[in-house]
Amino acid sequence: MHILDGKVLSAQVEAEIKQRVDKMLAKGQVPGLEVILVGEDPASQLYVGNKEKACARLGLFSKTVRLPENTTQEKLEEAIREANENPAVHGVLVQMPLPGHLDANRAIELILPDKDADGFHNVNFGKLLRGEPGPVACTPQGVMYMLKASGIDVTGMDAVVVGRSNIVGKPMAVLLMHQNATVTICHSKTRNLAAHTRRADILVAAIGKPKFITADMVKKGAVIVDVGMNRVDGKFCGDVDFEHVKEKANWISPVPGGVGRMTIAMLMTNTVNAAEKAFG
Ligand code: GUN
Repeated sequence: MHILDGKVLSAQVEAEIKQRVDKMLAKGQVPGLEVILVGEDPASQLYVGNKEKACARLGLFSKTVRLPENTTQEKLEEAIREANENPAVHGVLVQMPLPGHLDANRAIELILPDKDADGFHNVNFGKLLRGEPGPVACTPQGVMYMLKASGIDVTGMDAVVVGRSNIVGKPMAVLLMHQNATVTICHSKTRNLAAHTRRADILVAAIGKPKFITADMVKKGAVIVDVGMNRVDGKFCGDVDFEHVKEKANWISPVPGGVGRMTIAMLMTNTVNAAEKAFG
């Protein structure tokens, strides 16, 4: 069994980014990321804190706008417009999930596609589907980096993605398809989920339920990627029952220390890409 090690691999990405940032800084060009966070969701707080730390490590300008849980759509959109117009900001990100009374799609569509650090805008989502270059959602992009850096070629593999969100499941499936995997997307309405997951040469769990994927649901020798980030008794754990599934897997990503680190590294990549483009 091998570990898909987010600590090692994200450090590798960060080293590459650091060189690019240093080159820009030498020219007086500072890449900048703005995060807009609404409310107090604990996973979001952790994620946003880690983004701020990553910006500090790599020398990026970082701005976080914190809005209260009961913020109006107007206030949120005002913050996005300000970020769009701020020349110090090259990447803009609205942290998901937003409180239920806010329209996430409308908010995302307001972000300038060139500043869309998440690749969530319809323009960038469309580019991803067509296989054109553009910013790609950070978590799925991070997973693809992990696989490639670990020498795992998914060509011809049966890939099963559990979860159909716009943030992870859908872009993940598209990226795997582009790398020539045969992709199945499963979700909460899938009949006999285990019959699908047991066929998977590569299984991506993006469900949001702690330890949902058990050893009897995986194929021996499979690649297991755990995108889960669940809080149980104050501790974060994944969607995969790591202790038991690791006995059957050939490759497996832990939580923490797995995909989460890659998400941050890819966010830095998307921001630096946007900044290099902006500075010309
Ligand atoms: N919430 C969980 N993952 C993400 C992400 O990659 N981007 C944003 N904006 N929100 C998230």
